Amino acid sequence: MAAIVGSTPTFVPPHVVPPARAIKGLALIAGFLRNPLEIVPQDAYEQDYVAFNGLGPRFAWVTGPDLLKTVLLDESDKFSKSVQIEFFGPLLGQGILTSEGADWRWQRQVAAPMFRRQDLLSFVPVFVSATHRLLDRWRRSPAGTPQRIEADMTEVTFDIICATLLPSSDATVGLALEASADRLQRSAMWRQLYVTAHMPKWVPQPGARRIRAAVRALRASVGALLTERRRALSQPDDLIRRLMAAHDPVTGASMNDEQLIDNLLTFYLAGHETTSKALTWTLYLLACSPQWTVALTEEIAEVTGGKPVSSDHIDKLVLTQQVIKECMRLYPPVPTTSRQAIGDVRLGEHLIKAGTSIAIPIYAMHRHQKRWRHPNAFDPTRFSPMNEGDISRYQYMPFGAGPRICIGMAFAMIEITSILATILQQAKLALADVHAPLPVARITLHPKGGMPLRVWVP
Ligand code: HEM
Repeated sequence: MAAIVGSTPTFVPPHVVPPARAIKGLALIAGFLRNPLEIVPQDAYEQDYVAFNGLGPRFAWVTGPDLLKTVLLDESDKFSKSVQIEFFGPLLGQGILTSEGADWRWQRQVAAPMFRRQDLLSFVPVFVSATHRLLDRWRRSPAGTPQRIEADMTEVTFDIICATLLPSSDATVGLALEASADRLQRSAMWRQLYVTAHMPKWVPQPGARRIRAAVRALRASVGALLTERRRALSQPDDLIRRLMAAHDPVTGASMNDEQLIDNLLTFYLAGHETTSKALTWTLYLLACSPQWTVALTEEIAEVTGGKPVSSDHIDKLVLTQQVIKECMRLYPPVPTTSRQAIGDVRLGEHLIKAGTSIAIPIYAMHRHQKRWRHPNAFDPTRFSPMNEGDISRYQYMPFGAGPRICIGMAFAMIEITSILATILQQAKLALADVHAPLPVARITLHPKGGMPLRVWVP
């Protein structure tokens, strides 16, 4: 098996060039709407804490691991997710992503058993067959045709989330969901700016009507799914059934329809958009790195013996997972998150006043100059079994950290590994043109101009 260890990283893929110092005023608004990563200043890539007064009354970018451990773990009860809740609340209500305290805890406990690693491994055949359907479609195109990888990855991961966690016999539900989710991402930037900058509610919001329409359509589609399930004679043991059967341990109440829709939508949206972006960027980086593609193809052939990827193979695909982790370092699917201080709190040497917004630019943390050698270079050896131990828990966190860490982390890693290995077993990919896709933060990290790659499937 080819092992690439200690290679000098020479490939520096497209990245955002941060402003030398914080920008303000109209330039800030324009930059934010274009790409929120464009307003994260160089200092955030060099220091641990950067205070800023251009976005609302109190605001700081935090990228230091010790400080983040305080925010996300040690003192997590002193911080809220109020900006995320305000942003996602109209869509996701008070589901697992957008609730706090006891209300969050019981919902997390109800969903957690669905995400046990051992059980998730039983989904591998579903991941593989969804990928085979895509490969069949690619095979029908003339060899070397440029394919829309971003859209294709969304299709595969969407099929998977529908087939695994939230099955429905009505294919139109999935299609309606996908169309509204797409409209929502495209109109979301103004809303994100208003929420981040704490704009008063009376200030008119461009796109607000489109967002409301998309939200109504999304919630109606999921409502239809629930009705269908209530009418069904047999109930598979899946997330929907568990959520329907769950009771709040304090009040004894079960979830009403609104709460069920909140959670089902949360899993639909959080569970495929992120994974599809991880795959999109990974395929791009591999198309740019023939030596890593060869190494992975060899590893996959050796581990699987040319058979379909199975649950036994996942942990043995070591180089493959190294590459996935490095891709999520350079292009974290969730590029930023945030917390808000509930009261005054000490963060290292900084005294944070109540109401301060802590912006956590995961994208910038993953390229921090004090913590990563050649931070912008593609170098999967960083995650080799020998080197990975040197990476601190709070310097690399594509899935977040602390009690609110992504519940779907193991699901996503198994899914991405299965899909990537299945694609590399059969397909060859290459850059379609000179297009160098810049990463743009919408809710997830998109390639500007899409991701066309040429594909050959014999
Ligand atoms: C590569 C794929 C994924 C990435 C990068 C990702 C990233 C994240 C991050 C960063 C958070 C924490 C946000 C914060 O603390 O502010 C999160 C939370 C969450 N993720 Fe994921 N995620 C991925 C896949 C998934 C999948 C596959 C599912 C479900 C099937 C999922 C469901 C959730 C849910 C429900 C939460 C909220 C958890 C809570 O607050 O208790 N995610 N995700």
